[in-house]
Amino acid sequence: MAEIRIENLHKTYKTESQSVNALRGIDISIPQGSFLSVAGPSGSGKTTLLNIIGCLDKPTSGSVFFGDENIVPMNDGQLTVFRNRHIGFVFQDFNLIPVLTVYENVEFPLAINPFIKEKHENLIMKMLEMVGIADLKKRFPSELSGGQKQRVAIARALVKNPSLVLADEPTANLDSENAKNIMEIMKRMNAELKTSFLFSTHDKLVMDYASNIVRLRDGMIISGAVE
Ligand SMILES: Nc1ncnc2c1ncn2[C@@H]1O[C@H](COP(=O)(O)OP(=O)(O)OP(=O)(O)O)[C@@H](O)[C@H]1O
Ligand SMILES: [Mg+2]
Repeated sequence: MAEIRIENLHKTYKTESQSVNALRGIDISIPQGSFLSVAGPSGSGKTTLLNIIGCLDKPTSGSVFFGDENIVPMNDGQLTVFRNRHIGFVFQDFNLIPVLTVYENVEFPLAINPFIKEKHENLIMKMLEMVGIADLKKRFPSELSGGQKQRVAIARALVKNPSLVLADEPTANLDSENAKNIMEIMKRMNAELKTSFLFSTHDKLVMDYASNIVRLRDGMIISGAVE
C-alpha cells in the first residue's frame, strides 16, 4: 500500500465540565516501509493520534489518507473492515486472549479476515518462527514471560500482512534486554516484509531504533517528519 498522509488533524474531547484539545493540527507523511516513532510528554496526544490512525477513534476534523483512501468519513462498519485488513496492533500490556493458546492468539486475526486465502497454519508457523517462539505454540499467555507475550503480540499483529503496525509504548512493560530483543524483531520484520511501523514511546531505546521521530507537545508537532 502507498503512503499514509495525515492532514490538519484535530481532536477535541468533550467531557461534562470541559473540552480538551488533544490534537491541534497534525500533519505527517508516512511512506511505506517507515519505522517512525512519536515521542512526547504524558498527555501530549500520542495515544490519541495512534487510535485515530488505527481506526479506533474519530478525529474532530482533518484527514487520514491510506494511499487515495481517506478513512475519516468512513462509518463504523467500514472502519472495522479497513482496520482488520490493513492495520496490526501491538499494545503496552500485550492484550493477548487468556483462554487461547499462543497458536490460537496468532490465528485470531486470520479467523476474522475472510479474504486471506493462504493456509492459516503456514502463515502462523512462519510468524512464530520469525519471532522465535514456535516451540511455545501450545502454551497459554499465563505461562509466558513478558518478553514472550510481546513476541506473540507481534506475531499476531503481522500474521495478516498489514501495511501498518501501530505500537503504543511496546516496551513499557519489558526490561531493557527484552525491549532490545523486541525492537530487533520489529526492525527485522520492517526490513523483510516492508511493513510500516508507527510507535509511541517515552523509551530512548525505541527512539534510537526509529528511522524518524515526530515530537509532540500539547497536541502539536514541535519537530519531526512534517511535510
Ligand atoms: N477519552 C478522553 N476524554 C477526555 N480527555 C481525554 C480522553 N483521552 C485522552 N484525553 C486527554 O487528551 C490528552 C492527550 O491524551 P493521550 O492519551 O493522547 O496522551 P499520551 O501522549 O498518549 O500520554 P501518555 O504518555 O501518558 O500515554 C490528555 O490531556 C488527556 O487527558
Ligand atoms: Mg499514551
